[in-house]
Amino acid sequence: MTPPLPPATRRTILGGAAASSLLWIPPATAAAPPQGVHLTYGADPRRQMAVSWSTPASVRRPRLEVGVDRSLGRVVDVDSRSSKDVRSVYHHARIGGLRPGTTYRYRIEHGGATGATAASGTFRTAPEKPEAFRFAAFGDMGVNAAAAAHVALIRQQEPDFSFVVGDLCYADSSGGTGVGGPDTQDFAEWDRWLRQIQPSARSTPWMTTVGNHEMETGNGELGYAGYLDRFSLPRNGVDGAPVTYSFVYGNVGFIALDGNDASYEIDRNADYLGVDQDRWLVGQLATMRARADLDFVVVGFHNCMFCTNLVHGSDGGNRDRWEPIFDRFSVDLVVNGHNHCYERTHPVRDGAPVVEAPRGAVVDSRHGTTYLTAGGAGQAVYPVGGQALSYVTIAGGARVPEATTWSSVTDAQHSIGFVDVTPRDRAGVARMRLTALATDGSVIDRVTLRRSSRTGE
Ligand SMILES: [Fe+2]
Ligand SMILES: [Fe+2]
Repeated sequence: MTPPLPPATRRTILGGAAASSLLWIPPATAAAPPQGVHLTYGADPRRQMAVSWSTPASVRRPRLEVGVDRSLGRVVDVDSRSSKDVRSVYHHARIGGLRPGTTYRYRIEHGGATGATAASGTFRTAPEKPEAFRFAAFGDMGVNAAAAAHVALIRQQEPDFSFVVGDLCYADSSGGTGVGGPDTQDFAEWDRWLRQIQPSARSTPWMTTVGNHEMETGNGELGYAGYLDRFSLPRNGVDGAPVTYSFVYGNVGFIALDGNDASYEIDRNADYLGVDQDRWLVGQLATMRARADLDFVVVGFHNCMFCTNLVHGSDGGNRDRWEPIFDRFSVDLVVNGHNHCYERTHPVRDGAPVVEAPRGAVVDSRHGTTYLTAGGAGQAVYPVGGQALSYVTIAGGARVPEATTWSSVTDAQHSIGFVDVTPRDRAGVARMRLTALATDGSVIDRVTLRRSSRTGE
């Protein structure tokens, strides 16, 4: 007698870093409402957007419809991925050919064993020409009450997008050190985190980077598989490093680096890209600085280049690799996390402050780079920094004491950075105003970076 056939199954080809393998996706078992809906821009935020979401199990015919009015009308293909140690399935719809400065409606729809389920939302593409906009900047969020309060604060402040510098959900609490093994892992934390951010991320993109806690033990060679399964990032980064990318919004170029590749402090992924990432960075900066329509460049990665906080101090690896490059191209703002606190430097050039920039200052950012530690987005905060003497981790891991004359403002409270960008005024001066808000919305710090488009000013 012929044995019965196994039940019908479905397989899907993975995208992102795990594209080389096939993973089993469990069959649809029940109606599964979309969860953790979040947006990311493509490489061109004027014309490209990705909508991502998860379901508790596999679903039938996942699809996304998008359009400028209630009739929607355009159906977009969906790429579905499974991920390590969870039954959740992650769905990604990359949308191209959008119109700049336009509000779109979208609707997620799919079937389950007990019927169709759906979710809907809206998003807005970046404007064709520079106009005033706001972005949020922060890292080190986790799943906790402070993080949830910050999501509400971000919604209230209505940024156009968030720039998130790693240590997202802490599904692997060993933080790239490998200490603790499976006991330190709970990959369901990703779903809790995505549900936590959905109230903001379903309508404004969250542009994320990797921190040391995205190096998950046993989850791909670099540990990034869990992150890449859940995000649909711009595909214009370093070859072999889909966690890196760049995009332009208005008059600002944004570059997301993999700080783990350059860290001396936590060297799990150190130098897996090496000179390739540095060359890509130089190419991106050269291109951005050659564009007449761009005023500012913002670079984001996780590890601190300049921070007095004694928990992690500053990372000499990131300095050795990138500080000369940032100086050469006069990068305006570097956003880091990792130290769970707030800190802002004076404008720095060649490792030293070039001008005083106390709270409320207006500074010409051509003279130096402002380094921001925005690691207070939710995880337990570290004791206050601001020490006159801190340390930098050098090659081999030794901590070398150093004076911290470059530090301007430190604060140990939880906080979120908000940056208001305005295009050039009649005098040709563009501005980025950084405001750091505590959880209750009170102002911790404020500074304005200005840059003139006219030579000699
Ligand atoms: Fe962290
Ligand atoms: Fe970190």
